[in-house]
Amino acid sequence: MTASEIAKDIYWVGAVDWNRRNFHGYSVCPKGTTYNAFLIKDEKTTLIDTVSAEFSGELLCNIAQATGSGKVDYIVVNHVEPDHSGALPRLVESLKPEKIFISPMGLKVLKEYYNCEGWPLEVVGNDTTLSIGRRSLKFLETRMLHWPDSMMTYVVEDKLLISSDAFGQNLASSERFADQVDQGELWGQTSRYYANIVLPYSTVTLKVLEEVTKPGWEIGMIAPDHGLIWRGEGVGQVVEAYTRYARQAPTNKAVVFYDTMWHSTEHMAGAIADGLVQTGVSVKIMSLAANHHSDVMAEVFEAGAVLAGSATHNNGVLPSMAGMLAYMKGLRPQGKIGAAFGSYGWSGESMKHIAAQMADMGFEMIEGVRVKNAPKHEQLKGCVQLGRTVGEALKAKLAAS
Ligand code: FEO
Repeated sequence: MTASEIAKDIYWVGAVDWNRRNFHGYSVCPKGTTYNAFLIKDEKTTLIDTVSAEFSGELLCNIAQATGSGKVDYIVVNHVEPDHSGALPRLVESLKPEKIFISPMGLKVLKEYYNCEGWPLEVVGNDTTLSIGRRSLKFLETRMLHWPDSMMTYVVEDKLLISSDAFGQNLASSERFADQVDQGELWGQTSRYYANIVLPYSTVTLKVLEEVTKPGWEIGMIAPDHGLIWRGEGVGQVVEAYTRYARQAPTNKAVVFYDTMWHSTEHMAGAIADGLVQTGVSVKIMSLAANHHSDVMAEVFEAGAVLAGSATHNNGVLPSMAGMLAYMKGLRPQGKIGAAFGSYGWSGESMKHIAAQMADMGFEMIEGVRVKNAPKHEQLKGCVQLGRTVGEALKAKLAAS
């Protein structure tokens, strides 16, 4: 995708990965993604971030297009994860930058990924102000948002925050700005990205939001390393959304996810959802056989109540449920009501296993339902009642919040 001027003498020079579906091995990105890199033409032409290694050639072309000469004096490495640093070795060899700026933690990680011998590396941090000519750059170390090395770069004169992984979305497009694309798609992808990548670092996120809204950090544009750039009203909207995401306030939504062998647990899921709907809660039913765990996680993140069900298998849960619970535990959702359910043939441990794990994750657990073999009418009524009980509890929690 061609270089694009996003502000006077500041260019997007990244790459659009239209066909990417597997994101870092743990999530899916059905709409592709982008690796954003930004070039500032000033007395010292400065490149901020690079792209995944397979797009190195495209990045070099875009840099040549934006600069006219292909000359880059400085490179800033906001984040060493290979989707943003993979092109760096080729760039250093081709462009021979005068200096490469990186956070203290970034320096350690970079040396563990690449042979940096002879690279002109220089550490920058929160106290650094770097003049590149008419402009000055400030840096904000954002450790664990979402790696220990992560930092943001602020272009003071342009009020531009280049925010690394924060505020991003996996959304391939020919447009560069958030206000140019379908808003439902944009916000869906923004929330999904937070749920699957940023969620465990919500405490850090709140601290960063506090920092970047202080005087001296007036922000007119936020340019993340994935997806669309926020400008105008979008800046306030995404800051407000991130504050809401990080606080994880309860919502009037529930998700019922399950896996089943002979449809018994599936029928229970349907009846539980009916009970939730009867209390006015918006519900999503998600089979783990039909939905990727990152799709389910996107809904768990948005839900105030989460109900998980599995048939008992070899005295435990089905493998898909074991994987989903492990994935959810790592992402540390907070402040949600939970309940477990499931069918069984003889021993019936699945509900106990799910409930114990969810309790351990901090869910406010409500006693679940289990059914031997196929649920009969009376037992399905019990499932409806479980849905109603969870729905009422969620309503009470929302009223009190
Ligand atoms: Fe998009 Fe943490 O890398």
